[in-house]
Amino acid sequence: MPLGKVSIARFADGEIHVRFDENARGVDAFVLQPTSHPVNEHLMELLIMLDALRRASAGRITAVMPYYGYARKDKKDAPREPITGRLVADLLTTAGADRVLTMDLHAGQIEGFFNIPVDHLRALPLFADYLREKNLPDPVVVAADDGAVKRSKQLADRLDLPLAIVFQRRVGRDAKETVQVVGEVEGRTPVMIEDIISTARTIVGAVDVVMRQGARPQVYVCATHAVLAGPARERLARDEIQEVVVTNTIPPPPGPSLPKLTVLSAAPLLAEAIRRIHLDQSVSMLFT
Ligand code: R5P
Repeated sequence: MPLGKVSIARFADGEIHVRFDENARGVDAFVLQPTSHPVNEHLMELLIMLDALRRASAGRITAVMPYYGYARKDKKDAPREPITGRLVADLLTTAGADRVLTMDLHAGQIEGFFNIPVDHLRALPLFADYLREKNLPDPVVVAADDGAVKRSKQLADRLDLPLAIVFQRRVGRDAKETVQVVGEVEGRTPVMIEDIISTARTIVGAVDVVMRQGARPQVYVCATHAVLAGPARERLARDEIQEVVVTNTIPPPPGPSLPKLTVLSAAPLLAEAIRRIHLDQSVSMLFT
């Protein structure tokens, strides 16, 4: 389908202006916007587009967010902190979203922040298919931290592989200190799966641990959302990391390319979900 016609501009003071240049009355609108870097710009642009469509009497408005930013603050870890995952849900609903289509939320519970339908797709089957074809020598799925256990177990179960878990202790907002590994990794090829690679600190912390435990220095790293903030590229460039497999839920952020980066397309999955939502068909088969 062609994209809808929309003009997005900036006022002199930097505020965003949106105008749809075709009739939106009664349409089934899908607004595609990953709220990735620059996250505040992208989020505000999305909210304004939703508002414009609502005021133009669109029939139904779906916010398609391949990457849902601000999700990592999904609970209060300390007094007087916000829950931005919930705040974004409220903003989307207030702006006019009737439903949300997204992929690999940082935490599944974020669906419960909404009182509108949320279709939550997973990239894990894409990674599993890709890895299966690699025929890696003695692979072991390694959860890079305790937050990655569920996703890692799902991958291990799907590929019928053993699982190991690295426990890391958080010592600052973007910093983690590694403490121990549970499971057998010696002589094996580690495969790690994450929802997000931001600074890559979690991943390289886990790589350090499995290397000390005698794992093969050919780690495969999978992550749905390649945020690649700050020092991520340099960290991922280290020799022990054989390949970094991500999806295209986020456009590549500015910066040097990473030669060992493989990008799998999430587009067919999202497109099929959009088609099914439009036709009021079940999307649940896409979740597996
Ligand atoms: C954490 O809770 C996430 O699942 C990722 O492990 C984390 O956000 C990755 O961040 P970074 O790449 O900065 O370690």
